[in-house]
Amino acid sequence: MIKTTIKNERLLAHKTECLILFCPEEKKPSGKLAELDAKLKGLIGSSFKNKRFGGKLNQTLLLNAAKPIRADHLLLVGLGKAKEITGEKLRQAAGTAARHAEKSSLSTLSFYVPADNSVNPICDGLAKSDDNFSQAVTEGSLLSLYHFDGYKQAEKDKPCRIKQITLLTAEKSKVSSMRSAVKRGRHLAEAVYTSRDLISHPSNTVTPSYLADKAREIAKSFGMTCKVLAPRDMGRLGMGALLGVAKGSQEPPTFIILEHRGGAKNDPPVVIVGKGITFDTGGISLKPSANMDEMKMDMSGGSVALATLFAAAALKIPMNVVGLIPASENMPGGTAIKPGDILKSMSGKTIEVLNTDAEGRLILADALTYAARYKPKAVIDLATLTGAVIIALGHQAAAVLGNNDELTNRLQQCGEVTGERLWPLPLWPEHEKAVKSDIADLKNIASPGVGAGTITGAAFLKAFAGEQPWCHLDIAGTSWSGEDKPYTPKGASGFGVRLLIRFLEQEATGNPS
Ligand code: BES
Ligand code: MN
Ligand code: ZN
Repeated sequence: MIKTTIKNERLLAHKTECLILFCPEEKKPSGKLAELDAKLKGLIGSSFKNKRFGGKLNQTLLLNAAKPIRADHLLLVGLGKAKEITGEKLRQAAGTAARHAEKSSLSTLSFYVPADNSVNPICDGLAKSDDNFSQAVTEGSLLSLYHFDGYKQAEKDKPCRIKQITLLTAEKSKVSSMRSAVKRGRHLAEAVYTSRDLISHPSNTVTPSYLADKAREIAKSFGMTCKVLAPRDMGRLGMGALLGVAKGSQEPPTFIILEHRGGAKNDPPVVIVGKGITFDTGGISLKPSANMDEMKMDMSGGSVALATLFAAAALKIPMNVVGLIPASENMPGGTAIKPGDILKSMSGKTIEVLNTDAEGRLILADALTYAARYKPKAVIDLATLTGAVIIALGHQAAAVLGNNDELTNRLQQCGEVTGERLWPLPLWPEHEKAVKSDIADLKNIASPGVGAGTITGAAFLKAFAGEQPWCHLDIAGTSWSGEDKPYTPKGASGFGVRLLIRFLEQEATGNPS
């Protein structure tokens, strides 16, 4: 990851290729910016005057700097109305500015961190004890500068990249709190990078075994425990639903168990479950070939579970957290399950598989049953479960459904703050009835005409969540971005990691602030 440093120096004395200044929306520069403008003989003020810049959120203006400033360029970036600045807007502005600098072929950049937080960010969503401003800037800039280009070989295909990010402060007393804030931001960004990498790699790299190796590697570097169940273990446990999905593939399925023991020995954990379908062809209910390549992202939920455990360990969150990742390919092989087949799940419930493309809920069924062994405080599953969630919410929010309104609300609030929006959908008895089978306990799709595909998917899962406080996040619309966003470049987003970490930190401090 890109280097980040903190420097204690006066703004004018700081040497960098690009000095980034955050500006609230205004008619003309004020405060620190006005002071600087006077020294620069109105360079900044004139941009306001001729309307090239006004501080609107994510608006940017790159200026050539001159004496007495030692930076080569000044980059102004807008924060929007001063009274409405949030941590999310700051992350966006930092991300927008960082990418603007990179596209302008600059390779080092510095963010000026005002002494008195004179841009007055209401940095909600960031740990209160730390320097919220610095954390948001670190997160936003690092996340925006993510690239996945390891498979490109020609140097000319790799344009100029930012090599170093500096956070500049004129106050010596701020340095130590900034240091811990930047460290937090880095841990979070690193976890999101891990998730994005796993999603972006093609399925001939990221297989269920690869996910397991990655989990072992992460566990090892943080002293977490990691156990990987092989097919014969799954057989012993009666995980017929997971094994059923894996039957059509040559790749053996894995069931990954990661445990972060940050809390007291007998404290019930929060369990994070992530769908780990490393490629979803649909199975015998084969998907159309157009855009099928995108189905390499069907392990997004699993990657988020893995990355969340990574961050929980790196941040030493003082509570117990378990990650469960059922991983498999969904292939149409000669031995694949066929529509109409009946599977017996670990819970003992029988499932009539009417569509082999509704495979995510099958593997999650066994994982939710396994989760109950921990008697968890809460179980949260993340899955690219239904195309229907894209019809309902587009790419702006993930759906949240569950059996516990308090948990749903808290998760939604966490997402509001971290910029990972959740939107609740109902889960009514009629939906649960719609997944009851005529000849088995459940069927994996509702009868035609029922509609509400995201809800019936969740209704199926609910039967396996049982009495555990449980929420399901359908991230099919949010885990991949079709366009560049301020701090999420086109492609894998890592949606959910920061939200879950915020939730876990609240849970650990017993403070749903
Ligand atoms: N992995 C897909 C859902 C998906 C769709 C993820 C688009 C990302 C983008 C899932 O396994 C699936 O195929 N769902 C079916 C369910 C249906 C058969 C009930 C779907 O959404 O069509
Ligand atoms: Mn599918
Ligand atoms: Zn799928």
